Amino acid sequence: MFMRSVTSSLKGWKTAATALTVLIAVQALGPGAGRPQEPAQPRIDEEITKQEKIYRSRGTDMPHGYITDRGLSDYLELLPSGFCDALGTLGSSDRWLDIGAGAGQAILDYYASGGDSAPGKTCAGAGGRVRAVAMSIEDRRTEPWQQQAARLGDDRIRYLSGKRLGQYSLEELGKFQIITDVYGGFSYTEDLSGFMERALRLLEIGGAFYTLVQSVRLEDGKDNPKTWYLTELVDAAGRDVKVCSWLKKTTCVKVACESKSDWAQPTELISMKKVCSDVSVPPVKLLKYEADNPPGRRFQLEP
Ligand SMILES: C[S@@+](CC[C@H](N)C(=O)[O-])C[C@H]1O[C@@H](n2cnc3c(N)ncnc32)[C@H](O)[C@@H]1O
Repeated sequence: MFMRSVTSSLKGWKTAATALTVLIAVQALGPGAGRPQEPAQPRIDEEITKQEKIYRSRGTDMPHGYITDRGLSDYLELLPSGFCDALGTLGSSDRWLDIGAGAGQAILDYYASGGDSAPGKTCAGAGGRVRAVAMSIEDRRTEPWQQQAARLGDDRIRYLSGKRLGQYSLEELGKFQIITDVYGGFSYTEDLSGFMERALRLLEIGGAFYTLVQSVRLEDGKDNPKTWYLTELVDAAGRDVKVCSWLKKTTCVKVACESKSDWAQPTELISMKKVCSDVSVPPVKLLKYEADNPPGRRFQLEP
């Protein structure tokens, strides 16, 4: 009995000593050593497949937090302050694209009686209501959407689904005076610079793109540094870059950011006004993608 316990404690010592030797050797090799060398690409592809499932989810399968039915009053609270005024100056021949529209509720509200979207706010201008296009990867049209579209006829409201923004040609979509994105493509895309450039190309000169992005490093620097950042951007040397500072390097746009450090997650409200046609967004590449609502993403500026 005694011998057995001595032998087993000796074995234990040997095992511990071997483990310690391996640990020291692994640490000497530096961070990352000892972990299987998994290439990043298959992992990103897996996460993108998971994200596709979220887009396809319906009813009780839809993850809590994947909200697809925000109305116009939500858009007014979430988008930069100039959005409603800009919409109000447009007339019936002008166009509004909502990228990542979900059920298209904001457009339905805008078309509902009077166009009054929030107490004291009227986004519909005197020139009649603009023609509106709702875009979503998955078709989330509701019965009220179908009825309103049938009532209006004449292509006043259109719903596009089955593709992402980047899969449409410029000719297919035409140009817009206003483009909105509320937790849509800007928060979900794997190709952030490509997405942004495409959206800006669709704008008329003088038109504006309005969006927001949550859990990011804020332009005013007032975000809590302990934040769990969802969208991260680094330069070629791996130093943090603010999303707003990156966008300000885009040619032919005037960018304004409203930093919301007192929101539950630090959020940047962004408006981009197109001032000339030669738009070029500094390219970024995807380093990390984790499926969620919205996904966790890390991008790096191309040198
Ligand atoms: C969380 S929902 C938001 C819906 C709506 N804006 C709202 O606030 O209720 C995300 C929407 O973005 C769409 N989306 C994500 N990436 C997109 C892309 N690259 N192009 C077009 N739509 C996209 C999804 O299909 C979905 O309609």
